[in-house]
Amino acid sequence: MPVSSAMSFLPAIEIKNLLKDYRTSLRGVKLRAVDGLSLRVPENSIFGLLGPNGSGKSTTLKILLGLVKPTVGECSVFGHPAGSIEARELVGFLPEAPYFYKHLSGYELVRFYARMSAVPTGVLEARVAETLDLVGMTTAADRRVGTYSKGMLQRIGLAQAIVHDPQLVILDEPTAGVDPLGSAAIGAVLLAMKRRGKTVVLCSHRLGQVEELCDHVAILDKGRLVLEGAIASVLARQEQHVLTVEGWSAAAYEAVKSALEAHNASLLNVEHPRISLEKLFVEKLSRNTGEKTSSFGYAHGREEQYGPLGRPETPPAAQPLPHAPAVEVSLWHKGKKPPTLPQ
Ligand SMILES: Nc1ncnc2c1ncn2[C@@H]1O[C@H](COP(=O)(O)OP(=O)(O)OP(=O)(O)O)[C@@H](O)[C@H]1O
Ligand SMILES: [Mg+2]
Repeated sequence: MPVSSAMSFLPAIEIKNLLKDYRTSLRGVKLRAVDGLSLRVPENSIFGLLGPNGSGKSTTLKILLGLVKPTVGECSVFGHPAGSIEARELVGFLPEAPYFYKHLSGYELVRFYARMSAVPTGVLEARVAETLDLVGMTTAADRRVGTYSKGMLQRIGLAQAIVHDPQLVILDEPTAGVDPLGSAAIGAVLLAMKRRGKTVVLCSHRLGQVEELCDHVAILDKGRLVLEGAIASVLARQEQHVLTVEGWSAAAYEAVKSALEAHNASLLNVEHPRISLEKLFVEKLSRNTGEKTSSFGYAHGREEQYGPLGRPETPPAAQPLPHAPAVEVSLWHKGKKPPTLPQ
């Protein structure tokens, strides 16, 4: 169901006819980064804002945060104008290229942002410790930020974005440079936030993860919206169906094929279901590193401690490997498109 028709309640974000021109030379040449964008982000969802490089995603996020002024258009966050104090209080942000004070330790950095976000003194220390634990940075918390690897910087960046427990978290490529285990753990943190009623807006080029995490997606191209909707509805090929079968045989194939033909449907394709490379990677490494392995892996040393929410809450069930005996069968109703015979 399209987002716009699904929501009658106050959305977490509302963008109306947004347009942003950047001046790109002294002679007044302008570049249109966002071109007439209107969008609603439902509350308590994970929303993926996607698009190729330069399509206007980061510009849109910066406008939402009040960091960049739009040329035309309006944005609101939980009904408050973008950039207002009320809106800012409700938001946590991880920019795409975060710059942090290199001389601070991870702990000092997160504490600094917690104080800036007015986390009450009485809960400050506990909140900082809990957040560091959540992103798997407890052990590395005393090291200077200048010594962190790229993935560790992303994790500490996520910590500063969520330490004040905001209602809305905006993350511009949070998993860039993070290994697959760390990336899966960040995904688990985002899902845990959603379960606690939060809204997450995520820009990412890791489409596999976006597909797994997001309820809704919007795709931008050259600043324009080219697609928007609930992930299940935008990805479904409504005219085709997939059956997953066990005990497949040549005889079963012939029987199914003729039974379908009798009902004016065609068997198009027979193949084994696959798991994603990302899932296979996580599954293999989780097995090899033993039961106590955190979903954040050993990215910064074996002495690492991991937070309880740093691992996916439901441990990955034994996934069928690519050679699993099940097969998938795709069907196509006759009359819509000429069928191609299965191999
Ligand atoms: N401060 C700026 N001044 C001039 N042009 C800018 C500025 N910031 C962004 N742009 C231009 O606006 C367009 C959109 O940039 P933006 O950073 O929003 O894209 P993006 O979708 O986030 O891309 P990416 O996937 O590479 O992060 C690009 O053509 C970019 O060069
Ligand atoms: Mg960007």
